[in-house]
Amino acid sequence: MRTFAGTSMPGVTDQIKEKVDIVEFISTYVPLRKTGRSYVGFCPFHPNTRTPAFHVFPDTQSFHCFGCKASGTIFDFLMRREGLEFREALERLAQRAGVQLHPRTEADEQLDQLRTRLLEVNAAAAAFFRHMLVKSQRGEEARAYVVRRRIDDATSEAFLLGYAPDDWSLLLSYLTERRGFSPEEIEAAGLAIHHETRGYYDRFRNRLMFPIRNVSGEIVAFGGRALGDAQPKYMNSPQTPLFDKGKVLYGLDLARDAIRQSDATVIVEGYVDVIIAHQYGFRNVVAPLGTALTADHVALVKKLSHRVYLALDADAAGVRATLKGLQALQSQPEGELTAVISPQGVIGLQRRQDVEIRILSLPEGKDPDEVIQENPEQWRAALAAARPAMDFYIETLTSDLDLSSGRGKADAVERIAPLLTQIANPVEQAHYIQQLARLIDVEERYILAALGNKARQEGSRRPPDQARTTKVLEQQPDEAKQQPGDTQPSTPTQEEHLLSWMIRYPKARTAVEDKLYRDLASYPALRSLMSGTIDELFTRDEHRALWRAWITAPADSDPDSWATTLHAPLDATAKHVLALHTPQPQAYRIVNDALECATILQRDVAKRWLVQIARLQAEATSEAEREILLDQLVQVKQFIDMLSIPRRSSAYADLHALHTL
Ligand code: UTP
Ligand code: MN
Repeated sequence: MRTFAGTSMPGVTDQIKEKVDIVEFISTYVPLRKTGRSYVGFCPFHPNTRTPAFHVFPDTQSFHCFGCKASGTIFDFLMRREGLEFREALERLAQRAGVQLHPRTEADEQLDQLRTRLLEVNAAAAAFFRHMLVKSQRGEEARAYVVRRRIDDATSEAFLLGYAPDDWSLLLSYLTERRGFSPEEIEAAGLAIHHETRGYYDRFRNRLMFPIRNVSGEIVAFGGRALGDAQPKYMNSPQTPLFDKGKVLYGLDLARDAIRQSDATVIVEGYVDVIIAHQYGFRNVVAPLGTALTADHVALVKKLSHRVYLALDADAAGVRATLKGLQALQSQPEGELTAVISPQGVIGLQRRQDVEIRILSLPEGKDPDEVIQENPEQWRAALAAARPAMDFYIETLTSDLDLSSGRGKADAVERIAPLLTQIANPVEQAHYIQQLARLIDVEERYILAALGNKARQEGSRRPPDQARTTKVLEQQPDEAKQQPGDTQPSTPTQEEHLLSWMIRYPKARTAVEDKLYRDLASYPALRSLMSGTIDELFTRDEHRALWRAWITAPADSDPDSWATTLHAPLDATAKHVLALHTPQPQAYRIVNDALECATILQRDVAKRWLVQIARLQAEATSEAEREILLDQLVQVKQFIDMLSIPRRSSAYADLHALHTL
């Protein structure tokens, strides 16, 4: 193992954590009860009202849920709970702690000021539109339209519906003359259009207005629907410093709590669909803004729930949009697949941080809006009957094929095989292979053959089973003790090296991901403690945040140019970290080094658990609890031992195992 030189970045996050007490902070969201040295409550991140599995540890200033494995620091808590970016959480907590964030660039300042100003423009415009809809004479027709769509007053108010009068400059003059905004600002907010000769004029005219709010409830844009047949039927604000339509889901500010409570998000297509759903008490419903689902949408939703229902149009365009949406859901990097090998040698593929996707089918040509208004029970039934995405895929992708012909069968397999290889659960995968086999009426082995290559590759990396590991341990106790990382706690420097490699070298990343997952596979009692993912290895908030930003960056992003797009302070962290390793050709060495580095960090994670579990065990109140903790204690120890066998724990364990056979 090489030793690493270098210094760690001083962080504001540490200063903040010193000043904001995690117990006090989390108590404002979750009622906590003191038990021994930790505090316990009901986890706000997964639905459950029976067992309080959510623990807050004041001595490490961290939290962990033994039910859903949500864990981290106050930053992780706040980001998840409020659906915030790292930067936003940092700003809020810095303010609370009275800590000065390191100096921001002038450009940051200016953009911030501009954003604040544009939010003010939007808020003023929304008030204007609202007044026009509710109070003005000119709003007559729009009011009638709202009534015709059967949107009640309370809902109209909750969604802050408004009306843009049929006029070229009414909003402009209101905002400039009465509210003191400049035409340039109004244009920058997307509410006015600038014409070279005719000057500024209102973008939205004679439309029912839907303010679009971000998850925090700030109005970042507007959608406007024509009252009659005017084209286009819907018009949205253009992209502005506040608004990127690929990143906002309509209704999410109002749906957030319900999504979390039900652990499900329902995605529909239209503004009115969202509004009516909420009006009928279906509050976990949101919509993209006339676009297909993007990876950002998915990331937004995944933070809040594990189940996603897609209720998109049944017509051809709708189906296409759905498929695109599914691709976005499934191409999430953190949902990548890994081989899982059980002690019995069963090989399966599993998707981490999985989201369960179901497709809602509605009566042909009907929007959720109509379905719900006709009969809310019909909607409830559609939700209950929603089919797993794979069923939907198989049906849609084969609907245009003649499945009685050889060509048709071959095409069907070719289209669906790539999806089958992605199914996490081996039993589920077998189910769909069978289903496809029946559908096209061929034997399963032909389909298996089509899936073959990939699965075989994954399967060749088989780790030693536990018995063998134990033997190795017995043979080489001295060597095991001498592992250097054992005695010295890892410094953030090691995290930085690992982070650098993980970002720069996809091969090293895959190898590490596989290793982490495999290592954990034979320790079932640790499943409620560790996730076996890379981000778990990083103890610094900045490192975790940077890693999460990277795994949600578009595939094939160039690390160095990506780093420049980050907000402070992550841009600096990224620069620092990326500078540790410049791209170089000897990738096999890097994989090896990365695996060893990961092992040391894994061991650190486990050692922290050892301390924590020992404590919890001493304080356990019931026999059952003590039993579980004892089990965990034993396995954490075994896990640490296993990781302490030099080199045998890495990918080379396979080779070693083969030689000893
Ligand atoms: P639809 O055309 O399906 O309309 O557009 P809808 O939601 O059922 O609308 P109503 O019920 O007739 O009022 C679905 C969504 O696609 C976007 C809008 O976000 C709309 O809600 N869209 C549609 C546009 O952005 N522009 C358009 O011209 C049409
Ligand atoms: Mn509709």
